[in-house]
Amino acid sequence: MPAMLIAGNWKMYKTAAETIEFCTELRPALEPLDGVEIVVCPPYTSLDEAVRVLAGSGIDVFAQSAHWAKEGAFTGEISAPMLAELGVVGSLVAHSERRQLFAETDESSARRIAGVLDAGLRVIACVGETEEEREAGETEAVLRRQVEAIRGAVEDDDVHRLTIAYEPVWAIGTGRTATPEQAEEAHALIRSLFDVPLLYGGSVKAENAAELLSQPDVDGALVGGASLEVESFAAICEAAAQAA
Ligand code: PGA
Repeated sequence: MPAMLIAGNWKMYKTAAETIEFCTELRPALEPLDGVEIVVCPPYTSLDEAVRVLAGSGIDVFAQSAHWAKEGAFTGEISAPMLAELGVVGSLVAHSERRQLFAETDESSARRIAGVLDAGLRVIACVGETEEEREAGETEAVLRRQVEAIRGAVEDDDVHRLTIAYEPVWAIGTGRTATPEQAEEAHALIRSLFDVPLLYGGSVKAENAAELLSQPDVDGALVGGASLEVESFAAICEAAAQAA
């Protein structure tokens, strides 16, 4: 069983100055935690400072997205080699906010995943159904489609650098968490399609982390809102250490 992975997705929060303050506090709050890998995903403008302040702490820095090309005429985009040069070791890809608000598709997400892996970085690729899809009984079909698209983008040699996060869209930022049974059911399905480490995301908090992380196919969590405060993020990492 690999170590638990807890990743904090900061979304569009924290300036570079706020990042320095946060990471300086986070370091001592998380040492030492056995059996837990910890990742933070700051906005692009904070990556450099996060890498600098967290150097040597064991806490890894990921971006929140990356383009598939190494360089090119793609105004507003950032490539994986640009991230690697900063000391960033991976990226989220296909977060539901990218899919819903910025029109990213299974196809464009697959290209991004391939580009990031190709640059030697790690990927946390997100999947998850909307509320309407769940209510229409389409959860399984949606997850199959999304996971197959990811699988098709990953070369066998790169699989060890891929993690999938199951984030039901109706649970993100809503305070409505999937029940541990709902999470486990989705994770077991995803694992049957592609056997890689699986994170649960969607309103994970210190209070519900232990139960979610104790499910057999839940290998960690992707945390949004609760990753923005040192105390709540550290409490979730502690819960993961207990579950590891
Ligand atoms: P949340 O976000 O924890 O605030 O629900 C999770 C995510 O979007 O990754």
